[in-house]
Amino acid sequence: MRHVLVTGGAGFIGSNFVHYLLRTEQEVQVVNLDALTYAGSLENLKNLPDESRHIFIKGDITNRALVDQIFSEYKIDTVVHFAAESHVDRSILDPGVFVNTNVVGTFTLLEAARRAWLVDKLIPIDRVRFHHVSTDEVFGTLTREDPPFDEETAYAPRSPYAASKASSDHFVRAYGTTYGLPVSISNCSNNYGPRQFPEKLIPLMILNATTGKPLPVYGDGMQIRDWLYVDDHCEGIWKVVTEGRAGETYCIGGDNQPPNIEIVKLICDILDELQPDSLYTPHQQLITHVQDRPGHDRRYDIDIEKIHKELGWQPRWSLQKGMLDTIRWYLNNPDWVKAILEQSDYGAWVKKNYEGRKG
Ligand code: NAD
Ligand code: DAU
Repeated sequence: MRHVLVTGGAGFIGSNFVHYLLRTEQEVQVVNLDALTYAGSLENLKNLPDESRHIFIKGDITNRALVDQIFSEYKIDTVVHFAAESHVDRSILDPGVFVNTNVVGTFTLLEAARRAWLVDKLIPIDRVRFHHVSTDEVFGTLTREDPPFDEETAYAPRSPYAASKASSDHFVRAYGTTYGLPVSISNCSNNYGPRQFPEKLIPLMILNATTGKPLPVYGDGMQIRDWLYVDDHCEGIWKVVTEGRAGETYCIGGDNQPPNIEIVKLICDILDELQPDSLYTPHQQLITHVQDRPGHDRRYDIDIEKIHKELGWQPRWSLQKGMLDTIRWYLNNPDWVKAILEQSDYGAWVKKNYEGRKG
């Protein structure tokens, strides 16, 4: 039995990972540590494939005493670290919490792992792994001519969010080099899929479109992201944890790079087909260009050759199939949407982020 500490397992990717792990692995017990910030919810942990192998603990990753206790009480041998402040726009308006959770929180977990595995030797060192879930945003932005990011790309973060994630990556790597802690890092592109908090582009556009609100495209909408369906990311992470080499970084991505405006139009077109009688069809009429994000990264692209060649991973979901599935999920889960909007600061956030952006 593997004893896996998942941090941030009530958030978007973390909760999908918990569902994925309990569905695909029998010999795994999950201890899920999450502070339940605005982005985390127990709604995301309903209908788990096997409740008996899941323990939820509400707590903060910066709480060293709590984290130490979890390592010893549950004999943690594997950490999959998702917990973070994850939204770029929030990091621009309120960066302090990003330093605390993303940098200090990661440092706290690393110290607890060092103590449990290297000092107290609670688990044989050849059976442990600390996996850090990171982002392609640490690499900065690409021009049209630049080659894609890969594992050798120099770090050049440009938003407070990206800088905090870059810092946490450096700490993880340093603990591998200095103390011999068995660490791995994955740097992934933009995820989408069920249970994503509707501050992010795709769920925000789906919810606005279905309720007839403007679809706020930043700037000219020609910024480019690489999009990966969340289940593919979960599979890639588990491959790295179980088969990837300690001390290594793996880039993960969806192998597609449409401009944002194409993503928004795709959502509109799918909604037109699913809801031909909607008052808002054709949904593209709702598209509104608004003031751009400060320091907005123009283009991301990511090379997935290493994880493909070494671990045999590649995305299973096409963007079209993943988007259709995602839109259907939001349409079929109005109770989730209602609960998430009510539990969080959503209304206040929308006002804060969008009110000042002139069309
Ligand atoms: P999210 O914002 O949806 O979820 C974050 C979770 O962490 C929430 O459940 C929240 O309650 C929890 N959390 C926040 N602060 C905490 C703290 N101090 N202690 C304990 N729990 C805390 O984020 P996400 O989109 O699921 O991203 C998860 C991870 O994946 C992050 O590390 C992010 O940087 C990384 N990532 C995200 C994407 C993406 O497209 N969303 C892409 C690549 C990498
Ligand atoms: O690349 C990986 C990163 O992807 C993750 O590390 C982050 O946690 C995740 O939030 C995501 O960052 P982005 O900033 O790329 O995601 P977001 O959904 O906020 O925005 C996607 C693109 O859409 C970006 O170019 C900004 C644009 N956008 C976003 C919003 C919310 C809009 O045009 N309008 C919007 O209202």
